[in-house]
Amino acid sequence: MKVAVLAGGHSSEHSISLLSARSISEALVQGGHEVSLIGINKEGVWTRLAAVPKREGHSLPVLPHTDTVDFAAHFGECAAEIRTCDVTFPVLHGPFGEDGTVQGLLELLGVAYVGSGVLASAACMDKPTTKAKLESAGIPIPDFTFFELDDDSNESITQAVAYVAESNLSFPMFVKPARGGSSVGMTRVPTAAQLFQAITEASQHDLRIIFEQAIENMREIECGVLVRPNHQGAVASLPSEIKVKPPRLFYDFEAKYLDDSADLIVPAQLDGDITSEIQNMSLQVFDVMGCEGLARIDFFIRGTELLVSEVNTMPGFTEISMYPRMFEASGVTYPQLVDDLVHTAKSRASR
Ligand SMILES: Nc1ncnc2c1ncn2[C@@H]1O[C@H](COP(=O)(O)OP(=O)(O)O)[C@@H](O)[C@H]1O
Ligand SMILES: [Mg+2]
Repeated sequence: MKVAVLAGGHSSEHSISLLSARSISEALVQGGHEVSLIGINKEGVWTRLAAVPKREGHSLPVLPHTDTVDFAAHFGECAAEIRTCDVTFPVLHGPFGEDGTVQGLLELLGVAYVGSGVLASAACMDKPTTKAKLESAGIPIPDFTFFELDDDSNESITQAVAYVAESNLSFPMFVKPARGGSSVGMTRVPTAAQLFQAITEASQHDLRIIFEQAIENMREIECGVLVRPNHQGAVASLPSEIKVKPPRLFYDFEAKYLDDSADLIVPAQLDGDITSEIQNMSLQVFDVMGCEGLARIDFFIRGTELLVSEVNTMPGFTEISMYPRMFEASGVTYPQLVDDLVHTAKSRASR
C-alpha cells in the first residue's frame, strides 16, 4: 500500500509525534509499503518531507520553521498527495491532530485513515467529555468537576476558585486544562492556597478547566486496544505499569520524556483476575467512546478498585513507547502492529 504519514503538528507533543512517525515509517517500509511523508511544523505549515528528523542526543527533533507565504501551495500539494495514497496514518498527538480536526480534514478529502474518527477523537481529547461519557456508561472514574473560565483574568480565576470550594472535591486535587496532553499545564494541588496559581497555569492552555480528586497510593496501569484487520475485531494487550520514582509526585512532562524518573514495566505484574478485568474494561471503554483502530486506555488501581483515567486515540508510538511495547509483550510485533493498523483502516473505508 501507499501510506501517507502525517508527522509533527502544532501541539506540545510535536517532537513526540516526529519520533513516533519515524518509527512507524521505518516499519511500513520494512513491511513492503511505500511511505509518503508529510510534516506539519509548529506554525501549522504543511510540507512534504524527504525524511523525519531524528533525536540528536538529548535534544528532541523539531521541524524547521517555514515561511508561511507559500501556505496554500504547500497545503494543496500535501492534500493532493494524500489523495493518491491508499491510507493516511495521522501520527499526530494532542490538539490539532488527535482531537478530530485532522480527522475532519481527511474525511473532507475522502480518504481512509488510521484510528478514530472525528467524534471519538474530539471526545477523547476533551477530558470533561470523556469523563461524562464514561460516567454515564457506569465506568468508574475519579471524582471530578469542571469549570469554564470567561477569560484568564484574576476575576475569572477567582470565580473558579470559589466554584471548586463549593464542590465535593477535597485536597489534594489535580487541576488540568480540558484539552491537553503530556501533562502540560496541569498541577497537583495539595491545599487551597495553591489553587489560584494552578488555575492560572491551566488557563494558559485552555479556558475549560477540569478538577480531579487526586487518587493517592495507587498504581498507574495502561492497556492497549487494537482492531485487527479482516473483521477479527478489537483485542486488548497485556497491561503495563508506570512507577513514578520519588521525589516526583506524578507522571509529569519531565518523567514522560526527559529523564528516567519513571519505571515502565511491560507487562505489569498483576494477578490474572485483575488483568482480564483491565482488558475487558479497556474494550468496553473503546466501545463506549466510539474509538476505531487503536487506543491506549489509562487506569489507576487503588487496592482492587479500578478507575479509568483517560483515553488516548493516538498514543505515543516510538519503539520504546508503551502502546507498541504492550502489544510486543502480547505477541504482536511492531511491524505487524503497524501493518494491522493500515489494513484495518483500509478495510474500514471500503466497508
Ligand atoms: N486524579 C489523579 N490522581 C492521581 N494522579 C493523577 C490524577 N490525574 C492525573 N494524575 C497524574 O498525572 C498524570 C497525567 O495526567 P493525565 O490526565 O493522564 O494527563 P495527560 O492527558 O496530559 O497525560 C497521570 O499519568 C498521573 O500520574
Ligand atoms: Mg495521560
